[in-house]
Amino acid sequence: MSSSSDRVAPSPDPAVTEAVLRGLRGAPPSLPSVLLYDDLGSALFEAITHLPEYELSRADARLLEAHASAELAALPGRLEVVELGPGGGRKALTFLAPLCARQGAVTFTAIDVSSSALDACRRTVETLAGVTVHTLEDTYLEGLARAPREAGARRVVLFLGSNLSNFDRAAAVEFLRGVRAALAPGDALLLGTDIGSDPARLVPAYDDALGVTAAFDRNVLARLNREWGADFDLGAFRHEARWNAPERRIEMHLVATRACEVHLCGEAFRFAQGTSIWTESSHRFDARELREWAAQTGFACEAQWIDARWPFAHSLLVARP
Ligand SMILES: C[S@@+](CC[C@H](N)C(=O)[O-])C[C@H]1O[C@@H](n2cnc3c(N)ncnc32)[C@H](O)[C@@H]1O
Repeated sequence: MSSSSDRVAPSPDPAVTEAVLRGLRGAPPSLPSVLLYDDLGSALFEAITHLPEYELSRADARLLEAHASAELAALPGRLEVVELGPGGGRKALTFLAPLCARQGAVTFTAIDVSSSALDACRRTVETLAGVTVHTLEDTYLEGLARAPREAGARRVVLFLGSNLSNFDRAAAVEFLRGVRAALAPGDALLLGTDIGSDPARLVPAYDDALGVTAAFDRNVLARLNREWGADFDLGAFRHEARWNAPERRIEMHLVATRACEVHLCGEAFRFAQGTSIWTESSHRFDARELREWAAQTGFACEAQWIDARWPFAHSLLVARP
């Protein structure tokens, strides 16, 4: 096994600062969800994947365990693998193991905004003999555009854990178009997306009894205090997960439990009691919608697998000429 890494400048970078200020000035106020994933946020997300309420992550893993070989069989020839937002890399390992057995050696590139997620991913994947790991600390499409390419290999992009759900429908289609533009005909995208729409299961998945998701959410404010010198009183905000039925999405909000004023980059932001800062959306797309978007964005949906215990789909999209 061998490895390389490439890091970009740490936060706060001016573009993120601008997005934070724009979001806090908005009505309703919001924050970019990418802020959730600093070192502590990545560790808390890893803990979330172990919670009984967050079954969707295990459904994704089960699909890989059951179908990675079939997914690979649909993609003959030499492959290289890129994963967008891999987190700790356990799912990559499940996909790479049969591929290593098939072709002996595999190049794997992990792209994530979180340096600690990349470190964890590298440690996990490097346990597999025959894998060469590259890590890129970057956003999805920017990283994909500069990911090193192995000559003569088809590229398979993994986008698991329902990361696509953070986009609204129009942005998800644009994102798929962007991925397709970075691929060659015959390359593939394996999409793992939650397709459930039962709030009785989804709200607890985003607001667990132990309060780990609440800590994950409120860490965004702690991060703004740490990295941007803001003065949020964490005790003045409680986490809330809401099912927005018309938009078919779970929203995470931080609700002010009393009126407060917060300062960030020399600006004052006032929050009346009960107002919330919207920190994340997680949309639910259905299997048909995903197939239609694939067709619209230059992919053919070769196969879909759906978990029997939790409504979660793997869609194997192959780039058309
Ligand atoms: C919900 S977690 C899922 C992790 C993993 N895919 C899984 O299935 O467990 C999202 C991951 O994507 C990363 N991420 C979030 N937004 C990103 C972005 N815009 N560009 C790159 N990585 C991002 C986070 O740091 C995190 O590791």
